[in-house]
Amino acid sequence: MDHTDSRGKICTLQAYLTGGGPSGQIIDRRIRKIINGVAFASKIISREVSRISLSDLSGPTGGTNVQGETVQKLDIYSEKIVCEAMERTGSLCCMVSEESENILSLPSGAKQGEYILLFDPLDGSSNIDVNISTGTIFSIQRRVTRQGDATIEDCLQKGSSQIAAGYVLYGASTMLVLTFGHGVIGFTLDTSIGEFILSHPNITMGEHSSRMYSVNEGNYLFWSENQKRFLKTLKGLEGGEPYCTTSRYVGSLVADFHRTLFRGGLFAYPADAKNTNGKLRLLYEAAPVAMLCEQAGGKASTGEGPILDVAPTDIHCRTPVYLGSRALVDLADSFLSSQDSEERSY
Ligand code: AHG
Ligand code: MN
Ligand code: MN
Repeated sequence: MDHTDSRGKICTLQAYLTGGGPSGQIIDRRIRKIINGVAFASKIISREVSRISLSDLSGPTGGTNVQGETVQKLDIYSEKIVCEAMERTGSLCCMVSEESENILSLPSGAKQGEYILLFDPLDGSSNIDVNISTGTIFSIQRRVTRQGDATIEDCLQKGSSQIAAGYVLYGASTMLVLTFGHGVIGFTLDTSIGEFILSHPNITMGEHSSRMYSVNEGNYLFWSENQKRFLKTLKGLEGGEPYCTTSRYVGSLVADFHRTLFRGGLFAYPADAKNTNGKLRLLYEAAPVAMLCEQAGGKASTGEGPILDVAPTDIHCRTPVYLGSRALVDLADSFLSSQDSEERSY
C-alpha cells in the first residue's frame, strides 16, 4: 500500500492538499481550510464514537429531527463540532445539515467565504449503540449568487456542480475518503500521532465487480413491481443466471458504500410505498457518494437517470439510490426506468 508522497515520504493530509501527493495536485487554500476543518471535527467525533458507551453522549435526545427520525445525542454533538470547526475557516457562506431544518448561517462576525458545506454529521446513527460503523458525509458547493447573504439558490445545486465530496468512516479504522473531481483518495487516521496519512492514493471500483448486493429486503413488500422483478432477476430467481450471489447490508450508508467502493457490486435504497422518493437525502448523502462512485469508475443512478443530474427541490429532498458496478446499475435502470405509471405504483 502506498503511504508515501511523490518523494517517497509519508504523506499527511496537509501535505497532500498542498501538492505533496503522487498527483501533485494543489488544492485551493479556501477548500483546504474546509477539508482540514472536517478532518479536525472527525477526529473528535471518532474519539467520541470509540468511547460512546462510557460517555453521556450515548442514547437518544428524546426528540425527532426534520426527517421525523429519532435523534441521537451524538447526532447533535457531531453537528455542533462540525459547525464550530467550520466557523474558523473563513471559506463558507452557509451550511446545510441533516439535523437542522433550515440553512445554517455563520455566526455574526465570522469571516464569510464563497462555499457551502452540506453534511450529514453522523450517518448510520441508529447503529451507534450496537457498535456498528458510522460516519460523516460531506459535499462542497460554490455559491451561485453574487453577494449578500447566501440564499436557498446557493444550496439547491445539482450534484454535478460539487467542488468536492467525501466521508469519514468511523470503522475498525477511521478513514477519510474524498474526491476533488480527479479520482478518489483515501487517508487513514494514525491515532498515535493524530494525523490522517495517505493510505489509498487512487481508489477505483475495478471492472471485476464482486457479486455482492446490498439492499434492505425488509422493504420488499413496499416496493414497486418492477423493483421486485429487478431484485429477483439479480438473484437468479427469474430463470436466468444470478448476477449476485452474496448479500451484505450494514444499515449505515457510509459503511455499505465504502465496501461497494472497494469491492464493486450493487448498493441500493429503492423508493417504496413508505418513502416514495426513497429514504436517502440527495444533498448530503446521495450526491456526495454519487460523485465518489463515479470518480472511482462506478455508476450512480436514481433508477431513472444519474443522481448527479437531479435538481434538488428542497434542502432535505430524498432520492432513490442505485450505485456500484456499471453493469449492475445498468441492469437496475433497465427495470426501473421502463416503469410506467401503474408499475411505479406500490
Ligand atoms: P442517518 O443515520 O444519517 O439518518 O442515515 C441512515 C441511513 C443510511 O445511513 C442507511 O443507508 C439507511 O439509513 C438505512 O436505512 P434502513 O435502516 O431503513 O435500512
Ligand atoms: Mn445519513
Ligand atoms: Mn445522520
